Amino acid sequence: MNFDDYRALWPYLETGEIWLQHAGVTPLNTRVAAAASEPMAAFSRAPAATYPELWKAVTDDARRAVAGLLDCPATRLAFIRNTSTGLALVAEGLSWPAGSNVVTLSGEFPSNRLPWRYLERRGVEVRTVAANAAGHCPTDAIAAALDDQTRVLAVSWVQFLDGYRQDLAALADLCARRGTFLVVDAIQGLGALPLDLDGLDAVVCGGHKWLCGPEGAGFMYLSERLDAALEPVLVGWHTVGSWTFRAGAEVRAEAVLPPFKPGPERFEEGTPNAWGNLALAEAARMLTEIGPARIAERLFAWQDAFLEAAAAKGYTTSSSLEPGERSGILALTHPRHSAAQIVDALAAARITTVQRGAAVRLAPHFYNNESDAQRTVDALP
Ligand SMILES: Cc1ncc(COP(=O)(O)O)c(C=O)c1O
Repeated sequence: MNFDDYRALWPYLETGEIWLQHAGVTPLNTRVAAAASEPMAAFSRAPAATYPELWKAVTDDARRAVAGLLDCPATRLAFIRNTSTGLALVAEGLSWPAGSNVVTLSGEFPSNRLPWRYLERRGVEVRTVAANAAGHCPTDAIAAALDDQTRVLAVSWVQFLDGYRQDLAALADLCARRGTFLVVDAIQGLGALPLDLDGLDAVVCGGHKWLCGPEGAGFMYLSERLDAALEPVLVGWHTVGSWTFRAGAEVRAEAVLPPFKPGPERFEEGTPNAWGNLALAEAARMLTEIGPARIAERLFAWQDAFLEAAAAKGYTTSSSLEPGERSGILALTHPRHSAAQIVDALAAARITTVQRGAAVRLAPHFYNNESDAQRTVDALP
């Protein structure tokens, strides 16, 4: 399939709307919608006795699909509700010896700030790396904040405000030297950029942005090292394995706490979100089929063409365009027009963007084409 074929999976485009807000939420595509709604209709015709088996089959399949996108063993993954859940499960599930600290960055989205700040009640020191004049936290500033007591470095792979991409390989190197766990909020990058898991300890991601998937369904990748250190915070019946409820000890509440399942699956405490996982799996399959490197190339080409045309109207970007620092997000500014004026002018032309900080955040996806870029430039004040 070429990019025009994929574009046809987004029928909202027929309304004339251009959605450049994939860093907020993706419009649902028909392929992902059908992947959940068709089996849902089939479930309605199947006897309910088969549901638990169907849920398990769906979840096993989804685990393989997401593992295909991440290029990791399916056994390294847990399904979670959203990015926030994954970050909180790591924050609360680790032990925090006296004197330990966590390092995070200025400009993190609240879901990657608040779970760490909440640890202050347990005596954990939270260090926030200050941003430089460009609004970024470069690797050397992060290195300076780490010490041998740093248990976790928690970063967004791609910053939500202006799309600055962290050098995860360099951070992994720093963390390996200190014995620090590198925890990555990947929601602003995954689906737009290729990810190398090497040296990362946790990667958490919800489905509803660049992954082109559903709300309320996400996943958490765990390295073996972090997995071994992490205790489940939410302990439920699925944490420990399968149940038949035939033998006495299983049926009665006196049952001792059985051993936990091995691997990240023990973080799925109860009945899975089968519908969400169906949609997430299809989104992962679609992105794997296109190829994350090809998607990134397409996005950068769109941005380059857009910026070149917008420059004629006086627009510039405050986002880094360095190959290792850029992402799907572009922060657009103008010397005279405020971000609010620009967002409003685009909205009047049925083009959706948002203001983030003093800039307009543009977040197209791979199915946006040259004509979307041109229409956006034409609508700029
Ligand atoms: C960097 C970042 N992390 C997390 C989220 C959202 O987290 P959740 O999946 O928990 O809604 C967002 C945006 O909504 C984000 O930009």
